[in-house]
Amino acid sequence: MPGILLGDVLPNFEADTTIGKIHFHEFLGNSWGILFSHPRDFTPVCTTELARAAKLSDEFKKRDVKMIALSIDSVEDHRKWSEDIMAFNQEKTCSPLPYPIIADDKRELAVLLGMLDPDERDKDGMPLTARCVFIVGPDKRLKLSVLYPATTGRNFDEILRVIDSLQLTATKKVATPVDWKPGQEVMVIPSLSEEEAKKLFPAGFTTKDVPSGKKYIRYTKL
Ligand code: BEZ
Repeated sequence: MPGILLGDVLPNFEADTTIGKIHFHEFLGNSWGILFSHPRDFTPVCTTELARAAKLSDEFKKRDVKMIALSIDSVEDHRKWSEDIMAFNQEKTCSPLPYPIIADDKRELAVLLGMLDPDERDKDGMPLTARCVFIVGPDKRLKLSVLYPATTGRNFDEILRVIDSLQLTATKKVATPVDWKPGQEVMVIPSLSEEEAKKLFPAGFTTKDVPSGKKYIRYTKL
């Protein structure tokens, strides 16, 4: 079954978008990227999501993450829908969306990337795209994917939170615990020995005592 797994390089697909034709890799350049798909233009949940994504665009920029949306309608529809989205945000209708939307009206990308939701169909019985989130690193490899059904809108605060974790753990030998937020303590990864951890974290780390006596729950401050 087509689809894309963690660690895979996303294909350098060519697509028509609201900013013209793009090649995905050139669009990303050396930045991180987020590709988020939508079931259809002019649908209510999607409109709230795209509006929230537009409001948060400076947060994505701060993290050097290029945003791009996808929906299975035409560029013309996307442009008209963009006006509704900006109006939903009470922005001037003439301001463009701060990210492009891919026109996947033939569902070619949706099939290639495994984005179709078999439970949601249009009036002709054709499957709609699910709410996929693909986060891609500067190496164009998939770092995170989340798949929501059409009937459940995403949480963009959570998306920013996972980007913070992905970017941190990409360069430091740490992992982020449950419900972690930036600024909180992180965990030393299990593959580091005590000696290695002492060298790597000269400010130290604390180890939680557990009944097994194993010293694997280690917290450190960054
Ligand atoms: C929506 O975006 O509101 C939506 C789209 C397809 C199915 C259900 C809801």
